[in-house]
Amino acid sequence: MPFAFNEDYRERATLRGGAEVEFRLLRPSDRLQLQMAFDRLSDTSRRLRFFRAKSSLTEEELRYLTELDQDQHLAIVAMRVDELGRETGIGIARYVRLEDEPEIAEAAVTVADEAQSKGVGRALIERLAAAAKERGIHSFVAETLEENKAVIGMLRAAEPAISLSVEPSEQDPAIVRLILRIPTECEERNDASSLIETLARVARGEIEIPEPFALLKTRYARLQRKSDSPPDL
Ligand SMILES: CC(C)(COP(=O)(O)OP(=O)(O)OC[C@H]1O[C@@H](n2cnc3c(N)ncnc32)[C@H](O)[C@@H]1OP(=O)(O)O)[C@@H](O)C(=O)NCCC(=O)NCCS
Repeated sequence: MPFAFNEDYRERATLRGGAEVEFRLLRPSDRLQLQMAFDRLSDTSRRLRFFRAKSSLTEEELRYLTELDQDQHLAIVAMRVDELGRETGIGIARYVRLEDEPEIAEAAVTVADEAQSKGVGRALIERLAAAAKERGIHSFVAETLEENKAVIGMLRAAEPAISLSVEPSEQDPAIVRLILRIPTECEERNDASSLIETLARVARGEIEIPEPFALLKTRYARLQRKSDSPPDL
């Protein structure tokens, strides 16, 4: 079956607060958007994403971040679209497969400061997991600063589309290692929400779910999981 998250993938969603956002795969022509989004990012967000006060992206980094094969290295962007159809990048989630274990990928998410806490990060990681799964990836790994409660909270909120465990880093007590397992088909069938499969079907245009209903469905599944199993943190 062709991938649902391909170059024709487009999905519109309404965020908390009513703003419309469009999700699609990153294109090489998004280079300027990426540069501008990076320039607008606050020092705090840059430090949380790159672990240091990174001041700019080099030409080589921009090329690496935008010229993707969408298999080994894939990225999904969230765009705000105005009435004239002009796009402004407000978030990006990417994965890069590990060289020695290609069924595992390193993942990262960044949301523009002005768009944070509106559900964009969670929506991006859920869609990234769905795109990764159809390409045979079963887990994401990431490292983050221990103080980054936003990313851990966002990943917890994304369950059951992913299942999160947090481990201390052996090298640095300020860093934690995040392991995000993407549920198998079988585990999904046992899960009332089947969120990953639902997102793939939405991406293929097979179904359309009104956003309020989708949120209720996810929250209901999360509550069910919490009542069925002991906390894992
Ligand atoms: C981490 C980040 C991607 C989260 O994205 P976001 O769009 O702001 O997050 P969401 O709005 O999707 O949050 C989803 C959940 O996360 C939790 N959350 C969000 N921000 C939080 C915070 N500051 N503290 C604790 N929990 C938080 C909430 O439980 C929220 O649930 P709700 O939707 O029921 O309210 C964003 O803050 C960011 O880009 N930070 C800077 C870069 C970074 O740290 N990247 C991660 C590196 S791996």
